[in-house]
Amino acid sequence: ERIAALASEIASADSVVALTGAGVSTASGVPSFRGDGGIWERFDQRDFHFRRFQADPAGFWTDRIDLREAFYGDREIEPNAAHEALVALERAGHLDAILTQNVDGLHQAAGSESVVELHGTNREVECVDCGHREPADPIFERARDGELPPTCPDCSGDLKPAVVLFGESMPDEPTIRAHELAGRSDVFLAIGSSLTVQPAAGLPSRAQRSGATLAVINLEETSVSSRADYDHRADVTEVLPAVVEALE
Ligand code: OAD
Ligand code: ZN
Repeated sequence: ERIAALASEIASADSVVALTGAGVSTASGVPSFRGDGGIWERFDQRDFHFRRFQADPAGFWTDRIDLREAFYGDREIEPNAAHEALVALERAGHLDAILTQNVDGLHQAAGSESVVELHGTNREVECVDCGHREPADPIFERARDGELPPTCPDCSGDLKPAVVLFGESMPDEPTIRAHELAGRSDVFLAIGSSLTVQPAAGLPSRAQRSGATLAVINLEETSVSSRADYDHRADVTEVLPAVVEALE
């Protein structure tokens, strides 16, 4: 049926590229932003704006500690069947790259090699003045212990999570790579994303304009579902392993 048809398009494609969003990580216990129980029902997006960080870094960090708790709790999060299926696709030579909006690092933890992080990573913090980066966990510890905001060991500038905040532009290098990869793809998979945040949300159309087959795998309708060649409104942890199985 439709999964078999998608699998055979993947098998005959020269280049397959996947764009992933929060829906890939919900089965790992990481909540999504939108949809049922989404983060933006519980937190005010404006508190995490870049302008807020600049105006009130201490208050920003206090809210960010709560947000991190809501995302990851105090347990070690683990990749799920969707991440693992993408690893299997790459190892079988059927996936050139993952373009991810996620900042949880789970694609890399699962073993995917070619991952473009469009929105940065929550696993690190960066200095807004000199660009120094270091692992996030110890810095969050220091912030919880009252160092607000935590500062850079090199230049004592303010540290911020190494993610793209609202009101910040996406870093150039990953954005350019993502556009190139999307433009060169024959099959573009948009997986677990509501596709509401630009410029990532424009990548599926970019791929389609250059001739790619577009497949959407998401529980709900997305901004590009109506123009997709395949529109799987289903759980990514079921569809992706089924695609891998169909390819074997
Ligand atoms: P969203 O939360 O907007 O969308 C996640 C989508 O995944 C929703 O449509 C869910 O229905 C769907 N979903 C959830 N679990 C699923 C599952 N198991 N199988 C299939 N679908 C599932 O997340 P993103 O599109 O990633 O930006 O959000 C994009 C950006 O908005 C984020 O990167 C973040 C946010 O504000 C920044 O922080 C800059
Ligand atoms: Zn610095």
